[in-house]
Amino acid sequence: MTAAGHLLDIADLSREDLDAILDLARRPDLAQALSGKGVAMVFEKPSNRTRNSTEMAVVALGGHPVYIVGDEVGIGSRETAEDVVRTLACYHAIVCARVLSHMTLSKMAAALDAAGSSTRVVNLLSDRAHPCQALADVLTLEEHLGPLGGRRLAYVGDSNNVCRSLASAAVMLGMKVAIASPAGYGFDHEEAGAVRRLGVLSGGELFMTDDPREAVSEADAVYTDVWVSMGQEAEGTDRRAAFEGFSVDEELMAGARPGAGVMHCLPAHRGEEISPGVLEGEASWVWRQAENRMHAMRGLLAWMCSAPSGSPDEQGRRS
Ligand code: CP
Ligand code: NVA
Repeated sequence: MTAAGHLLDIADLSREDLDAILDLARRPDLAQALSGKGVAMVFEKPSNRTRNSTEMAVVALGGHPVYIVGDEVGIGSRETAEDVVRTLACYHAIVCARVLSHMTLSKMAAALDAAGSSTRVVNLLSDRAHPCQALADVLTLEEHLGPLGGRRLAYVGDSNNVCRSLASAAVMLGMKVAIASPAGYGFDHEEAGAVRRLGVLSGGELFMTDDPREAVSEADAVYTDVWVSMGQEAEGTDRRAAFEGFSVDEELMAGARPGAGVMHCLPAHRGEEISPGVLEGEASWVWRQAENRMHAMRGLLAWMCSAPSGSPDEQGRRS
């Protein structure tokens, strides 16, 4: 968590924070930590899982979610990101946002900190990161594999927002993560170093290759995501050509550990990054993974309400 308690990416959490959130996510009987409080959810891009899981998690904790279409508040066009979030902080304990640019989240968090507000910002997906997805992913991995230290996770495809947050969380929990991306679509040196540093205490490791077969060899779970993320539609033709041979299909899965699970954050493009048979096959964990978005969100929001720095109880007093 940042000093002020925002969650912009997994690196904002310590290992202890991550374990505490996952413990809460496993509990079906959480207290009404958001009773009487508002949670704003701003979406500059479409969503199915994130919107619904967040909304239901807020309701489960006794709070009131408000869904806001990006165009309605017009971040950067009708009003600055700073003015949008300072206004929302007058009514809400937490402002969750899915944004076109990660910079918008940084501006929002900085504006709240400068104003002395205790309202927190949560990233619901940016071009850089998808930390709430990663929380559900490691929850799903632990459900199937138990403690993750030393276990192997392969990610095949674009080293994108989902991949960055997933690798960070998995390495923090001690996993050995192998990522296979075509040349030009992997992490740069700085990004890889940042992920590796998160594994120093846990023994987690990051390995990068351009060979999907090498990445999945010995893997306990194989993860993929779309080749063309939201906002990259103009690159679609080039990307589909570049990612040829990076499909998670029956042939590739034959090279993983027997019984290895298959993961995908969804939405899936069957016949591109994943074959229909693998997505719906016995080894697929994707539907449980989708359900876990809600449990992980409940754990995160409950944890944010109990975390010491700037409890949402103080919301309104300092904003
Ligand atoms: N996995 C995920 O974030 O899905 P949505 O885009 O539907 O929210
Ligand atoms: N990488 C994808 C994830 C969608 C949940 C995107 O950003 O569109």
